[in-house]
Amino acid sequence: MLEQIIPIVREAGGIVLSAKDIWSHTHEKTSAADLVTEYDLAVESFLKEKLPPLVPGAIFFGEEEKENTSPLDGWAFIVDPIDGTTNFVRGLKQSAISVALAHDGIVEYGVVYDPYKDEMFSARLGGGAFLNGLPIHVSARPLSEGIFGMGTALYDRHLFGPTLRMTEQLFRRSCDFRRLGAAALDLCDVACGRLDLFFEYSLSPWDHAAGGLILTEAGGVISTLEGQPMRYTQRCSVWASNQVNKDILKELEV
Ligand code: IPD
Ligand code: CA
Ligand code: CA
Repeated sequence: MLEQIIPIVREAGGIVLSAKDIWSHTHEKTSAADLVTEYDLAVESFLKEKLPPLVPGAIFFGEEEKENTSPLDGWAFIVDPIDGTTNFVRGLKQSAISVALAHDGIVEYGVVYDPYKDEMFSARLGGGAFLNGLPIHVSARPLSEGIFGMGTALYDRHLFGPTLRMTEQLFRRSCDFRRLGAAALDLCDVACGRLDLFFEYSLSPWDHAAGGLILTEAGGVISTLEGQPMRYTQRCSVWASNQVNKDILKELEV
């Protein structure tokens, strides 16, 4: 299945790389902080045409769909056509295409592709995680020697206070932190040991479904900040870690 999904996602990456004059193809969804571009829509419609035929009966659950049905029954592609749209609009070149394939609410395949670096992260449940075909693993670095990533939950702005408090608690225990702006890539960066921890107070299923599997297959852990399993029907918080730092959560004020 990965051998079939990966070339499709790579081709979709070509749409991202071909983008020109992005600002004039950008529209506000709910506010100036919540943008969609014609490239997000083009990638999503390309993936919607190509992916479902790979798995008869599979539904397509995508960020830019007008209406989505629950991805918990049967096979479902959970898709973020461009994760890191604000980065994309501003030419910051830190964005990815994220595709998960879930069965009855369990993610079985995950692919996250950064077209700028030509980095293809992939995982199959029980089959390990890979970057451009080579196995990847989380770091064994304690936070005291490490760097964490965080997201600002910008679409749930009331969560900024808790986000700042959590950032301060972790910053005091670490070397530094990053806010890179594409959650799917943040999870992959933990999976391959570039980051040692990541949190965000609110993410959507398409932000974390593929990256979450890649992380756990790379030996990491993912849960909500309440320590619950990730949810695929609504937004939830995310705590993503290597094995060394996972229990720090119990010592923090969430
Ligand atoms: C967003 C990015 C961002 C994260 C937001 C996500 P989008 O996805 O992953 O890093 O902070 O919570 O919604 O809107 O660019 O697809
Ligand atoms: Ca996203
Ligand atoms: Ca998106």
